[in-house]
Amino acid sequence: MSDYKRFLVTAALPYANGPVHIGHLAGVYVPADIYTRYLRQNGKDVLFICGSDEHGVPITLKAKMEGITPQDVVDRYHSINKDAFARFGIGFDIYHRTSSPIHHQTASDFFRKLNDAGEFVEKTSEQFFDEANQQFLADRYITGTCPHCGNEKAYGDQCEKCGTSLSQMDLINPRSMLSGNAPVLKETKHWYLPLDKHEAWLKKWILEDHTEWRSNVYGQCKSWLDQGLQPRAVSRDLDWGVPVPVKGAEGKVLYVWFDAPIGYISATRELTPDWEKYWKSEDSRLIHFIGKDNIVFHCIIFPAMLKAHGEYILPDNVPANEFLNLENDKISTSRNWAVWLYEYLDEFPGKQDVLRYVLTANAPEAKDNDFTWKDFQTRNNNELVAVLGNFVNRTLVLTQKCFNGKCPAISALTDYDNTTLGEITAIKSRVEQSLETFRIREALNEAMSLARLGNKYLAETEPWKLFPTDPERVATILHVSLQITANIAILMDAFLPFTMKQLRGYLNVPEMSWSAIGSVDLIKSGHQMEKPGLLFEKIEDAQVDFQVNKLLETKKANEAKEAGLAPAKPVISYDEFSAMDIRIATILEAEKVPKTQKLMKLKLDTGIDIRTVVSGIAEHFEPQAIIGRQVTLLANLEPRMIKSIESKGMILLAEDNQGRLIFVTPEQAIQNGAVVK
Ligand code: 2FM
Ligand code: ZN
Repeated sequence: MSDYKRFLVTAALPYANGPVHIGHLAGVYVPADIYTRYLRQNGKDVLFICGSDEHGVPITLKAKMEGITPQDVVDRYHSINKDAFARFGIGFDIYHRTSSPIHHQTASDFFRKLNDAGEFVEKTSEQFFDEANQQFLADRYITGTCPHCGNEKAYGDQCEKCGTSLSQMDLINPRSMLSGNAPVLKETKHWYLPLDKHEAWLKKWILEDHTEWRSNVYGQCKSWLDQGLQPRAVSRDLDWGVPVPVKGAEGKVLYVWFDAPIGYISATRELTPDWEKYWKSEDSRLIHFIGKDNIVFHCIIFPAMLKAHGEYILPDNVPANEFLNLENDKISTSRNWAVWLYEYLDEFPGKQDVLRYVLTANAPEAKDNDFTWKDFQTRNNNELVAVLGNFVNRTLVLTQKCFNGKCPAISALTDYDNTTLGEITAIKSRVEQSLETFRIREALNEAMSLARLGNKYLAETEPWKLFPTDPERVATILHVSLQITANIAILMDAFLPFTMKQLRGYLNVPEMSWSAIGSVDLIKSGHQMEKPGLLFEKIEDAQVDFQVNKLLETKKANEAKEAGLAPAKPVISYDEFSAMDIRIATILEAEKVPKTQKLMKLKLDTGIDIRTVVSGIAEHFEPQAIIGRQVTLLANLEPRMIKSIESKGMILLAEDNQGRLIFVTPEQAIQNGAVVK
């Protein structure tokens, strides 16, 4: 760490096509935030860069589905996510966006420079085209069957079921997302980055010079490199994105994975006129925090782009996490299977640190992990409340009680006191060691060991029993405990920034630098502290049950959707329901309406009158077969003229997912006009 003059820390730019969820947080933003906070505590010059990734097919598809513009989509989610990150305490120096003019400019210049230097290969090839929409179908505009796992809903760039990265041509039975038709092939020209030409230096740079990278990252890179790199298209036939800035490229934009990482550069440009110092000096350390699905882009493609450009430094490390599942199922935006950050913030106000803690303690660093609400509760109650909160609370409350909140002076330190205080430095260096090698989960566990040490110290010295007989010893014990507490306030600040700020308030101390950890004189004898409150509170079963039930409802709704059932309608009031006059009636006469396929004219005895109703059931029933049948009628529906017949009311029918219709009939004969309520 010491060889570098400055740090440039980036966190993957989330797509602005949905809100961020706990998977994003655990994978990227919480570890990146902890790391940058740690650097800042060490007085390092650091920039922490993020923003919205606002291009790409998922965004244009969403816009199409909702009947709005792609700009509307990204405006909505950029602001939701920017706000949620800020409320959650992720301390970006800038949360930028790739639809901004400075980004378009930066990405265009970057492309142009590579193009002028002959770093691309232009190739014409056949691509899928939707004839009905007269449009080329890039990436996710194509779905089809995955050749690896048989998933019928695989996308043109990836199968979300088995995780394989695909090309459109791999798909069996490809379909256009726009028309549902089979696409045709049509020639089109694109710009390719010849990754094969970069293979040799990439191999040396990663496989020999960066053996320290996490094994999941190193392993994925090795497998790509061992298979041999192929030229990769960096343009697309789309109308949303950064236009390809050369003549003859009308209707083409830069591939989202070409422009998005340049987003880190444009965000830095937006942030500071000094941006080049961070991006172009060898004494800057560039670190990309990402999720595992982004590894190839950050370790192979973006470095190849940077190298081809020639002016930029390369990342020194790319800590990528695996995925977080939720209650044993893959997190999915489309299936609404997620804990959304903005929802968590509203439902657990003031509990940002609890989620930060749980996501770090259970971070999917080496393998996919599972988030469960039960584990969330257990870690809060058994670790934050029972260990950290308990130690701090006992120390502060006893100091209030015995010494009116003033730090007491030491009389004499025992060997045990000295050994305990000596442990602080050892813990500090273990936390450092873990953080600097991006083992953030291990670092948190090490940091918590200071609170465990404090608890053990109190349990063994039992100051609460000694006060009447040996107040001097109690003074020493509390003095020692207060030093431990103040050390915790520094050591845990990067992990639990809201809580440690609160703790500094109770201790009445300012922010202190990392180098102060280990000092046993952080709180001076006689220093007056504030009356403490609780740092954490228990999470009750009811709160957890509420969240679990919410997920069960989601599961049920997804099953209904998969079964082809219509989605639930919004809630109505009892008054709205009782405004409907629903009655049993008997069909007296039935005949098909001439020159129509579907319509049948029915004469009904409703008990209150004899009336005519026209119903769309002619393809399902023979007129003769339904005469005499009792049916259910919405009697007060506004009359309508249908094929010159006045229809008064509507017969109620049930329709299944195959479109089969059946009457809703009383289980026994009942008086006509009987009210259904
Ligand atoms: O996977 C994703 O969510 C991408 N939007 C990440 C982009 S990271 C960077 F390259 F911008
Ligand atoms: Zn698959």
